[in-house]
This record gives sequence, C-alpha cells and structure tokens, in this order.
Amino acid sequence: MHSLDVVEELAVDHREAEALFDQIRALPPADARRKHRADDLTILLVRHIVAEEEYLHPAVREQVAGGAALVEEAAAEDGRIQATLKELEHHQAHDPGFDDLVDRLAAEVSAHAESQEHRIFPALRSSCTTDELQTLGRKVRHAKTLAPTRPHPAEASNKLLTPAVGLVDRLRDLLSGRGHAV
Ligand SMILES: [Fe+2]
Repeated sequence: MHSLDVVEELAVDHREAEALFDQIRALPPADARRKHRADDLTILLVRHIVAEEEYLHPAVREQVAGGAALVEEAAAEDGRIQATLKELEHHQAHDPGFDDLVDRLAAEVSAHAESQEHRIFPALRSSCTTDELQTLGRKVRHAKTLAPTRPHPAEASNKLLTPAVGLVDRLRDLLSGRGHAV
C-alpha cells in the first residue's frame, strides 16, 4: 500500500488550511463559528510548523544544495505566521480586526505553501531517496496524531482555548515535547 511521503503529507496540510480559510469566508461576518474554524487553523498550522522544523528543515539543510538559506527564509515566513496566529488568539469573530488578521494569515500561509511546493519540495525530492522521503513522511504522520483537536464548544472552559494561556505557545510546547499535558 502506498503511504504518503513527507512532501505529500505536508501538502495535505496546506490544502486543509486552504479549506479552513474557505470555510471561514463562507460563514457570515462576526459568526462565532468563524472563530472555531480559526482555532482549528491554529492547531493545524502550529502542528504543521513544528513538524516541518523537526523533520523537514534538517533534511533540507543537510541534503539540498543551498538548503541552509532556504531554511532560513522558511523560518522567517513561519515566524510571521506564528506572530499573526498569536494576534488572532486574542480576537473573537465579532472583534474589529478579526477579518483583517484572517486575510493576513491567508496571504502568509499561501506564500509559505507556494515557496515550499515550488522550490523546497522539488529540491528535496531530487536530493533524497524514496526511502528517506517515506521515513520522514511516517514521522510527520506520527506528529499529526499527537496534536489535540479543538474541543466541543460545551467544553469551552478547556484550558487549551483560554486566551490568557497563549494557545500558540502551549501548542508549540506540547508538540515539541517541552511541555506537559495541555
Ligand atoms: Fe508547509
């Protein structure tokens, strides 16, 4: 059975993020469900960025000619995405600024996906063996099983979604193994 390699696994996340942006835009302005989808996006994107930092970037740095510069550029893009996510944490769907932050995030995620899919992924594919790409794919897939999902609204007291605790930071700690249970 064919299992997805690292490039395919990460591209799936990019498509899932695009689908969540579409869902947000399809909901009426200020609808609370926009915030729920934004929380889903936060969990997806933080998990994705941590997985790329742990498995994709080291492989690109080691195997791709000029990989260190590519990784540096990618890390700067990811830093911008995480800064926007942190701002978004503190906005409800009805807050002024929520829609602008979602638009900014969509542009940043689109730039991230584009530079990976057009530059980094093809370079990695041509520098790694199929086995290496499959092994990295398995690691990324495993990381996906560690990420929490957004709790049901009835569990809104869940600490994961309490704005004061910093969802992005708590997720990063949890997923990179530095934190305790969220
Ligand atoms: Fe990515």
